[in-house]
Order: sequence, then C-alpha cells, then structure tokens
Amino acid sequence: MKIYDGGKILVGLIIFIALFASPFYLNMGKAVAKPELKFDTPEIQQMEKETGKKQCVEPKEFMRAEHMQILNNWRDEVIRSGNRDEIVILGHKYDKSLQNGCMKCHSNKKDFCDKCHNYMAVQPYCWRCHIAPKEKQS
Ligand code: HEC
Ligand code: HEC
Ligand code: HEC
Repeated sequence: MKIYDGGKILVGLIIFIALFASPFYLNMGKAVAKPELKFDTPEIQQMEKETGKKQCVEPKEFMRAEHMQILNNWRDEVIRSGNRDEIVILGHKYDKSLQNGCMKCHSNKKDFCDKCHNYMAVQPYCWRCHIAPKEKQS
C-alpha cells in the first residue's frame, strides 16, 4: 500500500467516525437540556397585565417540590371534608381543583405539566378521570 493511500484511508476513517458518531452528539444536548416551561397562558398573561406580577399557589421553588402534596391536600379537603372554599391568588379566586384550579392557569398542559413529567419520567394517572384542558394540536 502506498503512503498517500494510507492518508486517504485515515481521512475516510475520520469522516466515517464523525458521521457515525454525530447522532449521539446531536442528541446529547436534547437529552440533557432541561425542559423550557411556558407561563404564557391567557390566565397568567391577564394576571400579569392586571397586577404586574405572576404567582402560583405557593412560591415557585415550593411548587416545584410539593405540588403533588398540594393536590392531595386539596382532594382530601374537597372530597373528605366537603370544604370547597376557594383560594385567593392576587385578588382572584380559584377552586381547589385540578381541572378548575391548576389547569385554569396552566391551561398549556402539554407545554407545562407534560413537558416536565416526560423529562422526569413521571406519569400521573389523574387524567384517566379528570379532564385535561383543550389545547391547540401541536
Ligand atoms: C378514578 C377516577 C379519578 C382519578 C384517577 C383521579 N381522580 Fe381526582 N377526583 C375524582 C372524582 C370523581 C372527584 C370528585 C369531583 C367533585 O366532587 O368535584 C375528584 C376530585 C378531585 C379533586 C378536588 C376537586 C376537583 O374538582 O378537582 C382534586 C384536587 C383531585 N381530584 C385531584 C386528583 C389528582 C391529583 C389525581 C391524580 C394523582 C386524581 N385526582 C385522580 C376522580 C378521580
Ligand atoms: C393563579 C394561577 C395559577 C394557579 C391557580 C396555579 N399556578 Fe402554578 N404557577 C403559576 C405561575 C404564574 C407560576 C410561575 C411562578 C413564578 O414565576 O414565580 C407557576 C409555577 C408553577 C410550578 C413551578 C414551575 C417551575 O418553574 O418549576 C409548578 C410545578 C406549578 N406551578 C404547578 C401548579 C399546580 C400543580 C397547581 C394546582 C395545585 C398550580 N400550579 C396552580 C400560576 C398558577
Ligand atoms: C418542574 C417540573 C414539573 C412540573 C412543571 C409539573 N410537575 Fe408534576 N411532578 C413532577 C415530579 C418530578 C413529580 C414526581 C414527584 C415524586 O414522585 O415525588 C411530579 C408528580 C406529580 C403528581 C403525582 C403523580 C403521582 O403519581 O404520584 C401529580 C398529580 C402532578 N405531578 C401534577 C402536576 C400538574 C397538574 C402539573 C401542571 C399544572 C405539574 N404536575 C407540573 C414535576 C413537575
């Protein structure tokens, strides 16, 4: 084998490895990137317009860690204790409800709840009974 052929083979080999490996590099960012959550629903935009602020039931960090617990508490209060007192957030009243509370603000279930749950590989079974918000098909 002549030397310059060896060079060609080497270049070919490098190109081959680069092409072969590229799907991994291209996917790496996707797999690692945190999901970008959207807070631009009509209800939240309205809230920002009226008050200049946006708020959840509790501060963001608390919500991130404890939202399942809040839902459990709400369900127990409503179903076991019959306590349907509304909660007030920045002057607006919301039902202690999955469909009519959380999802009133987070009406973008796909871009919010689902996005994070898919990322974390969690699958809440709630939607077998509770009705998910109607959304534009994306
Ligand atoms: C087998 C059906 C079923 C499943 C699954 C289910 N629920 Fe419910 N849930 C109900 C019913 C029925 C009520 C009573 C509705 C009422 O009286 O307003 C209710 C009420 C609630 C309420 C209080 C009122 C309301 O309208 O939202 C909360 C909060 C709630 N569920 C949360 C959850 C969560 C969170 C999950 C998933 C972890 C879940 N539920 C799964 C059937 C179900
Ligand atoms: C009044 C509208 C409203 C209601 C009702 C509401 N949220 Fe939120 N939620 C928000 C807003 C606005 C933020 C962003 C808060 C911020 O930026 O400080 C948020 C943040 C969150 C976050 C944190 C997201 C992150 O950045 O990691 C979670 C999780 C969440 N909400 C879940 C829920 C659940 C579950 C319910 C029902 C128990 C609920 N929210 C009810 C408006 C609402
Ligand atoms: C920032 C990420 C994030 C967002 C946004 C988020 N969740 Fe979650 N959720 C989680 C994680 C992580 C868990 C699992 C926690 C655990 O197992 O301790 C979870 C668990 C839950 C559970 C309990 C499921 C079970 O089977 O025990 C419910 C119900 C739930 N989420 C509802 C919601 C709803 C409704 C929204 C949108 C309004 C939402 N979550 C938005 C991260 C998120």
